[in-house]
Amino acid sequence: MVVGGTANTSTYTYEQALAAFDKLNLAIPTAEADGRTQTLNKKGAVTAKFEYATEEFLKFLKGKRVRVLEVGGAYGDVMIAALKPKKNKDIEYVLSDLDERHLFIAAKKLSNLINEKGAREKSPSQAKFMRADITKSQDIKGMGTFDAILIARVLHYLTPEQLQMTIKHLFLLLKPKGKVFVVAITPYVKRYESFIPEYERRKKEGAENPGFVSSLRSYVNADVTAPEQISNITNEPFFFLDADILGSTFAANGFRVIESKMMPLCYKSTSWKLDGRENVILIAEKKS
Ligand SMILES: C[S@@+](CC[C@H](N)C(=O)[O-])C[C@H]1O[C@@H](n2cnc3c(N)ncnc32)[C@H](O)[C@@H]1O
Repeated sequence: MVVGGTANTSTYTYEQALAAFDKLNLAIPTAEADGRTQTLNKKGAVTAKFEYATEEFLKFLKGKRVRVLEVGGAYGDVMIAALKPKKNKDIEYVLSDLDERHLFIAAKKLSNLINEKGAREKSPSQAKFMRADITKSQDIKGMGTFDAILIARVLHYLTPEQLQMTIKHLFLLLKPKGKVFVVAITPYVKRYESFIPEYERRKKEGAENPGFVSSLRSYVNADVTAPEQISNITNEPFFFLDADILGSTFAANGFRVIESKMMPLCYKSTSWKLDGRENVILIAEKKS
């Protein structure tokens, strides 16, 4: 087992991921005041509360014998919610992320749950941990085997070309009629509101990728973002998404779009909350 690298896809059992957590001396990160927890690789923060598409993903799994994948699942909070109920004993959950340290922390969180009184003992064998970059074809494992995929707050870290590749990969990974559940950030957030006029102008002009910016940090609103939060924001490209782009891109890649819409933030945040259009969600089915 290679631990600490990010070069290739690596799959870990629960026991291996737990051993890696100890070997790397990792700690479970603590949440900030608004309940969000920063990732270790500056790819945003783990959400404070599950929003609509994640709740729909959890509803979809309930009581079923299914194999599911979560892309960019970070510290495994959704996986833990999926594996906790007794009736979900037949779910196989593949938790995947770009940074394997996130996966090892997820295994530790799962072990804490298992050690709690009343938690079932079967959960560990239901969880698999996979380091993978969803944009890279060599990292795509288990094609045609997944009943559902959740990809929450990951797509905005991609370039337009990587977004196209990713949607093709999601299609390949799903079984026919498999479902994908997506959450992403729109430009309608307080923290980056200075980008809104530019985004709306680009949209009006019919630009292909109106939400794509080459440097995220240059748009940050310092009035609502603390200096330590700004230091966590990358100077890399960022892709604010919306229901039109997500809907049309998934539809063009073999999906039947069930829902694609802007939605409000589901937790309190003075830094993010703007006008009820902060998130975009998409739920779609792979055409057979
Ligand atoms: C903002 S966090 C979201 C975590 C969680 N899904 C949520 O909604 O709270 C983004 C996560 O996506 C992962 N990620 C970013 N780019 C990725 C890629 N190309 N392939 C797989 N995971 C990626 C990051 O490592 C990080 O853990």
